[in-house]
Amino acid sequence: MATNSPSPTVKSIRSSASTVPRGVPYSLRRPFTLITSAARAIAPPRLYFTTRRGCSSRAECATRHAMDGRERALAEAFDGQAAQFERAPVQTDPVALARMVEFAALPPESRVLDAGCGPGIVAEAFLAAGHRVQGVDLAGEMVRRARERCARFGARARFDQGSVFGLAAEAPFDAAVSRFVIHHAADPVAFVRAQAERVRPGGVVLASDHVTDPHEPAARWHQEIERARDRTHERNLTPGELAAAFCRAGLSSVQLVEDGFELDFDEWFDRGTPALPKAEVRARVLAGRARGFEVQKRADGGITLRCIRVLVRGIR
Ligand SMILES: C[S@@+](CC[C@H](N)C(=O)[O-])C[C@H]1O[C@@H](n2cnc3c(N)ncnc32)[C@H](O)[C@@H]1O
Repeated sequence: MATNSPSPTVKSIRSSASTVPRGVPYSLRRPFTLITSAARAIAPPRLYFTTRRGCSSRAECATRHAMDGRERALAEAFDGQAAQFERAPVQTDPVALARMVEFAALPPESRVLDAGCGPGIVAEAFLAAGHRVQGVDLAGEMVRRARERCARFGARARFDQGSVFGLAAEAPFDAAVSRFVIHHAADPVAFVRAQAERVRPGGVVLASDHVTDPHEPAARWHQEIERARDRTHERNLTPGELAAAFCRAGLSSVQLVEDGFELDFDEWFDRGTPALPKAEVRARVLAGRARGFEVQKRADGGITLRCIRVLVRGIR
């Protein structure tokens, strides 16, 4: 687990890593902190990064296995995409962000984990709604932008670089949210479970993601295009698979809503990490259709992609 944050959290992790034996109760393990008591009153809970298999200490982990190969590849790709991603209309759509905050239905001043926070657009919406947010993301450039974007919220916002899987599962959060992350996860259920494990019993887990067609041949066509356009793409789930992932992660009262959104092919393609030339991907796009990826050729020669995202909410 790597962190490049100069925050008190990171200093605290380092100060405690070599001195605190395993098995000591969490309350006694809390390292000293550099933040003031006033700041502490409003700061989100501090995150503790755990060691990974094969590492005997957090310090060793930080230097040897900061991120695994796949996570490093994701981080590099998203470092490169960050600027365009942050400007993309689908990410900044205020109506969609408001819908996400509303659907989360969190109690006032909740402590929220934003898992795979990107440039802090989702975090900003939850902060503006009065919550406290801790964001974590693999990509250093995303974390830098999130800090910049949310600086005006002071100690209510904090962002660290690292993997959600590397956070200690000590459940200090009232809610854990993610948007457009699950289709990058090698194991979507494990990702939802990672969110859930960091939330207190009775807390909220929320995910929003772009979904695909339950009809398998259509989904296969769609996924081949997504991977041709973005090497970090793993797989879009169907709405049913996403709801099932929440159930398999042990969550209850699972609710799901669908919401349409549109992408312009050129804007979408140009901020990806393509594996195939644009002309080839364009030709493939025009050759099929899927629920969640409807293709419409416009009079101006451009292509509109009619997509579906879902919001899924469950209770731990
Ligand atoms: C498509 S972006 C979405 C960013 C943000 N959630 C948003 O909607 O604006 C996906 C982000 O998830 C991050 N990510 C993927 N897997 C992650 C993991 N295991 N831990 C932390 N971040 C992760 C990537 O680095 C990337 O910034």
